[in-house]
Amino acid sequence: MGFYYEKVIRPILFRTDPEKAHDLGVTALDYLGKLSLLCRWLESCNLVRSDKPVEAFGIQFPNAVGLAAGMDKNGRFYRTAPALGFGHVEIGTITRLQQPGNERPRIFRFPDNAAIINRMGFNNEGAEAVAKRLKSTLGKKKSRVPLGINIGKSKVVPLDQAVEDYLGSFNLLVDYADYITLNVSSPNTQGLRELQQKSNLDTLLGELAGTNRGRSRKLGIKPTPLLLKIAPDLTYREIDSILECIDRWKLDGIIATNTTITRPGSFANLKEPGGLSGPPLHHRAVEIVNYISRRTEGKLPIIGVGGIHDAATAGAMMDNGACLVQVYTGMIYHGPFIAKDLAKATGSRYSSWF
Ligand SMILES: Cc1cc2nc3c(=O)[nH]c(=O)nc-3n(C[C@H](O)[C@H](O)[C@H](O)COP(=O)(O)O)c2cc1C
Repeated sequence: MGFYYEKVIRPILFRTDPEKAHDLGVTALDYLGKLSLLCRWLESCNLVRSDKPVEAFGIQFPNAVGLAAGMDKNGRFYRTAPALGFGHVEIGTITRLQQPGNERPRIFRFPDNAAIINRMGFNNEGAEAVAKRLKSTLGKKKSRVPLGINIGKSKVVPLDQAVEDYLGSFNLLVDYADYITLNVSSPNTQGLRELQQKSNLDTLLGELAGTNRGRSRKLGIKPTPLLLKIAPDLTYREIDSILECIDRWKLDGIIATNTTITRPGSFANLKEPGGLSGPPLHHRAVEIVNYISRRTEGKLPIIGVGGIHDAATAGAMMDNGACLVQVYTGMIYHGPFIAKDLAKATGSRYSSWF
């Protein structure tokens, strides 16, 4: 299937503007999601299920491979994810307010490196509209594979009002989420990464963790797992202070990493601003996963993301401490069924995380 995609479909798609190709893909997957019998059949063919599911932050995942945030920003095709073989799917980033994102063009392909630079800027329909969609497509049912909802700061909201903005999205979306990711690491929203600094992060995590626990007490249910997604461009000292905040507020896990603003190797002289993803990010993302795993003695569940595109790169993430992995750019270059191959390859590395 991957061979067919790379030889036939990719050359056609890559003649199209990257964002148009993306929108075309989202629309196709959205339609596919409405054909539930076909989806069930595809799921039975593609969703690799281990005898022993992966367990992390109290959730069972059929396999270790998920779809990273950014592909399904508005929750339009999360229902199709298991049919493609993904063991979980993270939608978003969703902001409290609807916003158009940055000026186009804002996605750039680099086929020689199988990489992408994007500066989308959280283009999305806003938390209310996405909550409405999830209510109508999900209702009170659970998604067929765990559904992560990734939330970020609205562009027009100043940094000192970020907490209320995140809380607004959290309150609207939490009912539909198996886990919530707080994205403080996109390079394309001005000032967002400052939320990774200790005093800002402490306030943000404290408020969200408190609200989450309050809700769970009120409803008599377990708190929804809260994860933090971090940048690859942090120093180890900065990562240490993030880990302290995570420990203080008892967050359930960490996602490492988002795209990088550095320009390694052949990208050194490139002037295109935005976040770089794909293989050039892989080494740094694995280093960070390894560092976090050692610092937390393997006790904090880590979702490893960055440049995963084959068995070796997925395996490297897991060998260095990730319990789950996610893919974005690899799917653009290797096709929508990449998850099946990766899930088979990571199957022997399953372990339990609580
Ligand atoms: C076009 C594009 C849009 C993205 N949008 C988001 C986003 O909205 N929220 C987020 O947390 N990450 C976003 N990401 C980052 C990915 O989720 C992932 O962390 C990063 O691309 C590294 O993984 P990869 O090398 O497999 O792509 C985006 C990535 C790309 C390429």
